[in-house]
Order: sequence, then structure tokens, then C-alpha cells
Amino acid sequence: MKTILTGDRPTGRLHLGHYFGSLENRVKMQYDYDTYILIADVQALTDNFNNPKKVRDNVREVALDYLAAGIDPKQSHIYIQSLIPETAELTVYFSNLVSVSRLFRNPTTKFEVAQKKELFGNDGESITYGFLGYPVSQAADIACVNANIVPVGEDQLPHLEQAREIVRKFNKIYGDTFNEPEAVLSKNPRIKGLDGNEKMSKSLNNCIYLSDDEETITKKVMDAKTDPNKLRKDDPANPDICMVYYYHQLIKNPNIEDVCSECKKGERGCVFCKKELARNIIEFLKPIQERRKYYEDRPDEVDRILKEGTEATKKKAEEVMKRVRENMKLDYFE
Ligand code: TRP
Ligand code: SF4
Repeated sequence: MKTILTGDRPTGRLHLGHYFGSLENRVKMQYDYDTYILIADVQALTDNFNNPKKVRDNVREVALDYLAAGIDPKQSHIYIQSLIPETAELTVYFSNLVSVSRLFRNPTTKFEVAQKKELFGNDGESITYGFLGYPVSQAADIACVNANIVPVGEDQLPHLEQAREIVRKFNKIYGDTFNEPEAVLSKNPRIKGLDGNEKMSKSLNNCIYLSDDEETITKKVMDAKTDPNKLRKDDPANPDICMVYYYHQLIKNPNIEDVCSECKKGERGCVFCKKELARNIIEFLKPIQERRKYYEDRPDEVDRILKEGTEATKKKAEEVMKRVRENMKLDYFE
């Protein structure tokens, strides 16, 4: 059975962008693969090193969102990154195999560097060694369980390419040790925001969270961006430029063809259309929120799931690292 590794930074609750961008896919794949899902607290600290409480609290929120979304602890090992010190060790060995200029060329890093400079000043002081190196530690996450497949969103593809380069170089120098991990993009690798932004993202403040209540969801949907040329409820409009229509599609509204033709013919008002969408999202999230509630009421069970997931991952990482040390001639007293 092939091995999957994937995960998220615990910096906030998960939203519909996470769900349709990756969670839905993971839930499906977990039955056919040996699945490891990491809660990347070490990586979250690269940007939040001065806010450890935020990271700690969100480890639990993300775990609850995973379980709510349908990650099955019998099928998947959900684990906490910092509890696998083998990852830190492998990160150090990997750090010799990548140049600083290559790290700066990584497109996702480049984008984040520009963002940081804009926020914190152009002197480069906000670009830490840890931040620049996080794709190396991500390569170590993947290699520590010798994953074959990494399901990710679009912004992670450069990190995967970098992981493949590092692993290839390692295998060439020290002998065949790791699988070359393959990125798998989900059907919808990037989910747009209800406001028409290219991405649903916490920093853009345009998210519907899996745990949002009915009132919040309705309010957010009522503010969504529609076809700006439609001024009256019987004006014909173009659903292809309407975020409400985009979300009707995502959520798989069974009446999608009616929505489309009524909108085009001017037989559908936007308020009506938005109310229908809000109802559908609430309905869609109901089983997810019921599962979340189940686990919120049972914190000991969540702890046990995280502990067991972490133990299973640690066992695998120990096996892999034994081979790494042998191949690197570091197995001194074996
Ligand atoms: N970088 C990923 C994110 O920001 C999280 C992550 C850390 C990850 N290590 C990983 C994803 C390994 C896939 C594989 O969401
Ligand atoms: Fe969008 Fe619906 Fe209004 Fe058409 S009727 S523009 S699909 S909200």
C-alpha cells in the first residue's frame, strides 16, 4: 500500500476552502492509502514564534476540524509535528543538500518574502533562517514517513518540487533511501472567496468556517459578490461571474441547471438565490458540525487519537531514520 502524507499549519480553524481544496480529497483517499496527516505546529511557529499559545490552541481546533470533516482515525494517523524529533534531525541532514539561492527562488517563498517585506519593512530582518528553511523541514516531514504521495493545494507545488530535488540528491549521494514523493492536486486546488477574491483565506477575511453557525453563514452569503450588472431582481445576469453561482456548484446544488437558466433569463432574484445557497451550505455542514460537537464533548478521545497517531508516525520515522543513519555512515555503535 502506498503512503500519503499531508497536513496543515495550526493557525486557525479550517474553512470551506480547506474542505473543497483538500479535506474532501483526503477523506476519500484515506481508505486506499496508508495515510499520515500532520498538524504542522513547528512550521506554524516560523511565523508565530512569539505567539506559542495561538499555535497550541489551534492544534486542537484543527484536529477537531479533521475529525469533523470525516478523517477517520481508524484509517489515518493524525499526528503533531513537534512530537516527531526525527523530522528535526532529518531537516539538518537535508539542509546541506539545498543552496540558499535555490530556497530564495522557490516561488511560494518569494511571494511570502515580498509579503513580509511589505508588512515589516524592506531590510530583510523579518526573513529568518527558520522561515527560509521551512520547505526543507517540509521535505523532512514527507521523507520521514517515506511518503509516495502528497495531496496539496496549488501554493504547495513549489515545496513539493523542492522536496523531490532534495530526496533525489540524497539518494544519489548516500544510496537509494527515499521514494520520490509525488504531488497530487485536488479537483479544486484553489477555492475562490465569496467576495470574488482568488482565494478563500483567513488573511483576506473572506472565509466560511466549517464551524460557523447558521446566522454567521447566512450573513456571509448575503454579502457575496454577484454579477455587478444585475441591478433589479428580474434583470438577466451572467452566473459565470457570480460567486453565489460558483458556490452553488461547489456545494453540488441538485438544481444547478435551473439556477443557471433562471439567472440568465432574469427569472431569479439574487436575494432568493443567496438564501437558497445559505440553506444549502448550512445543510451541507450539518453532519460535519454534529461530528465536531461529538468530539468537542470528548476531549480525552481527541487526545487519545492524537497520541496514537503520533506514536504510529514515530514508529515509522524511527525505521526510516535507522536507514538514513546507516546510509550516511552515522550508525556508530550499531
Ligand atoms: N506547508 C503546509 C501548509 O502551509 C503544511 C505542511 C507542512 C505540509 N509539512 C507538510 C503539507 C508536508 C504537506 C506535506 O499548509
Ligand atoms: Fe448570482 Fe443567483 Fe444573482 Fe444570478 S441570480 S447573479 S446566480 S446570485
